[in-house]
Amino acid sequence: MAVDTLFKDGAAPVDDFKFNVRVAEVFDDMLGRSIPFYNEVIGMTAQLLARFLRSEGRVYDLGCSTGSSLVELARRLAHLDLQFIGIDNSAAMITKARLKAEMYGKGDRLRFECADIMNLNLRSPAAVIMNYTLQFIRPMMRPDFIRALYALMPSGAVLIISEKTINHDPLLNRAFLQFYLDFKRRHGYSEIEIAKKREALENILIPFSNMENIDLLRQAGFRHIETFFQWFNFSSFIALKE
Ligand SMILES: C[S@@+](CC[C@H](N)C(=O)[O-])C[C@H]1O[C@@H](n2cnc3c(N)ncnc32)[C@H](O)[C@@H]1O
Repeated sequence: MAVDTLFKDGAAPVDDFKFNVRVAEVFDDMLGRSIPFYNEVIGMTAQLLARFLRSEGRVYDLGCSTGSSLVELARRLAHLDLQFIGIDNSAAMITKARLKAEMYGKGDRLRFECADIMNLNLRSPAAVIMNYTLQFIRPMMRPDFIRALYALMPSGAVLIISEKTINHDPLLNRAFLQFYLDFKRRHGYSEIEIAKKREALENILIPFSNMENIDLLRQAGFRHIETFFQWFNFSSFIALKE
């Protein structure tokens, strides 16, 4: 796996973060070193889907990147008759995802499309997963997007959302952020790399609080909503359509 050294050069100017070829190349390493409990959240997602999904249907992953989640879900849920469809508008990510699906021999059950998730071109999804991607959608677009997603989900469908979050209490927000910076240091990122990535993501990754995310889901129409995982400033939510 290629190691993420994207922000190692202290002298290079910082551009806005883009999910381009350079990022796709090191993305799997970046995920493990930047998202706390990434694999555990996929494991919990598999448990939730096994519990709430009917035995067949389509599982969509919006903002699927290199397809890590779907490949793992296809493996863990192999006993169910599910089709897995990943959508991402980064061609470089989709190329990687397709290669990965072939490599793991899951090509028949997994499909990857290069498209804008805002078009919501989904066919009767049994489940929709959106991990660490809603945070990249402009905040003012989020309510309409989640409302439209709710409208096209059939009853009984499952929505899983994971996000980086903020906290409204400034004291706790600072502490949680500090714990996250410590996490990145422990995973080998230098102060320069941490600062430069933060600058590149500013104005692009805009986190909501847990409360704001839950309100978004409730206002869209979901009635069964729960936070099923939280690590300081990272949370995962489940919402079920009645
Ligand atoms: C942080 S990554 C998601 C990680 C991935 N869900 C996982 O768990 O491995 C965010 C992804 O969302 C994609 N993305 C952002 N906005 C998008 C849009 N409007 N349409 C499609 N993909 C989008 C990016 O290209 C990127 O691959």
